[in-house]
Amino acid sequence: MKRMTLWAVLLIALIGVIVCAAMMWRPSIQPLNTPVTADATKIERGARVVEQGDCAVCHTRPGGAYMAGGLPLVTPFGTLYTTNITPDWGTGIGNWPEEAFVRAMRKGVSRDGHFLYPAFPYVHYSRMSDADISDAYAYLMSVDPVQARAPENHMMFPMNFRPLVTFWNLLFLRDDPLVPVAGQSERWNRGRYLVEGAGHCSSCHTPLNFIGGEKSSEHLGGGLVDGWHAPALTGMTQAANPWTPEQLVAYLRGEVAQGHGGAAGPMLPVSLSMAQLPQEDAEAVAEYILSLKADITPPASSCVAASPEPIKPDQREGAALFAGACAGCHGGGAPMRTIDGRPGLSVVSAATSDSPRNLIKTILEGIPLSTRAPSHYMPPFADALDDTHIAALAGYLRGQACAAKPWADLEKTVTTIRHEGEPK
Ligand code: HEC
Ligand code: HEC
Ligand code: HEC
Repeated sequence: MKRMTLWAVLLIALIGVIVCAAMMWRPSIQPLNTPVTADATKIERGARVVEQGDCAVCHTRPGGAYMAGGLPLVTPFGTLYTTNITPDWGTGIGNWPEEAFVRAMRKGVSRDGHFLYPAFPYVHYSRMSDADISDAYAYLMSVDPVQARAPENHMMFPMNFRPLVTFWNLLFLRDDPLVPVAGQSERWNRGRYLVEGAGHCSSCHTPLNFIGGEKSSEHLGGGLVDGWHAPALTGMTQAANPWTPEQLVAYLRGEVAQGHGGAAGPMLPVSLSMAQLPQEDAEAVAEYILSLKADITPPASSCVAASPEPIKPDQREGAALFAGACAGCHGGGAPMRTIDGRPGLSVVSAATSDSPRNLIKTILEGIPLSTRAPSHYMPPFADALDDTHIAALAGYLRGQACAAKPWADLEKTVTTIRHEGEPK
């Protein structure tokens, strides 16, 4: 009897190992022999899809060739590099049949069968339509091939064992295309499709759990990305400074929105991509986003931009620094004043948010110069101002934007944020 039990246990263990191994294995897909071609209209449609998906934001490193990869992505589980998705035959995806591309987008598996890390947001691309994925493939196969190989990844144990991604996928991957919701307008459904699919907005705007999956119960409830706070996209009409569709469309298209300001940090490239797309895409996204309500009342920020506050004695240093370093672009005297149609800083969510994070990040990093939005430039102040100065500036701006709720421990927070992400 004892012996029987032992055998049964061993058998079950063996079956378990086989099932796991089978779950973790994906076949290689036969490479192409000859390059693919597609007609111009399909390629043009694909260019739009690729812009909607921000593929170039990750697959082009600063100063590198378009789509040739090599951008390092720092995750809590290590650093990995984006790959070359130009149609180069040896180092890119030139010899990938469409079937392999579809599998990568829907299942997160590379042509040779290895699992891809979810830093590649296939959990969102998997919700795209067959037609859009096919068009994106046609477009990518038409860009200039570039020979480039991504540097070696540095993922921590056990995440350096790619097959483990299987279990992550079981929890977080849905590979069926989004179906329109009945009773909602065509534009709303289009917006939802763009937000939840190609736009992968929730990959930044949703908080993550400890294994890096999005918390579905807090969908679009605000997240953290590269040290920036990506505010909640729910309840934008309920906010103390509510957003109108026009303001949101302008913001999403990389413009400085009346009453709200412009995008900075990781949102800037997203909005500059959207600026390349027809306005109707941003309008659809805005309609969907503005329909999302926050269940928390009052919503995230309860600061109301009032008239200029009197400058308190402990804000004098910040006010003086502002006059010297910032007022040339943001309006003299008080930051409430607008200049060149730019809204006063006291209405931007970086100043009204519960956290000083984005304000500090903006001062440290500025807003990089981009040929797509030349008027958007703000210099970085990380070297010009020390932590005490930045804390004084932040304290002053907060005092003007939200006097009732000052930010605590500013200098310590500046020091922490300045050194985040540095190798320890
Ligand atoms: C947030 C960054 C990010 C975005 C946006 C992104 N990718 Fe990637 N992608 C990655 C990373 C990182 C990898 C490599 C993953 C790995 O090695 O496990 C990758 C890998 C891939 C691969 C697999 C390549 C190979 O050789 O195995 C394909 C195909 C791909 N991406 C296509 C796209 C397309 C198409 C888009 C836009 C619709 C896109 N990616 C957008 C980060 C991104
Ligand atoms: C790569 C990460 C990332 C992605 C992807 C992303 N966002 Fe953002 N988003 C941010 C960050 C960070 C901010 C804060 C920027 C700032 O303070 O200037 C932001 C800000 C915003 C804001 C302004 C919110 C406010 O209250 O000020 C809106 C609206 C927005 N994003 C919408 C979207 C939509 C819609 C998408 C998808 C099409 C999207 N975002 C995709 C990171 C991202
Ligand atoms: C060379 C011009 C220039 C200077 C100098 C400058 N800024 Fe800016 N700043 C901009 C532009 C352009 C934007 C983007 C458009 C907008 O939101 O108004 C911006 C945006 C901001 C934002 C909003 C960012 C967000 O997340 O939405 C803050 C906060 C800010 N600046 C603070 C400062 C502070 C503090 C200083 C001084 C230390 C300063 N700026 C100096 C040009 C400048």
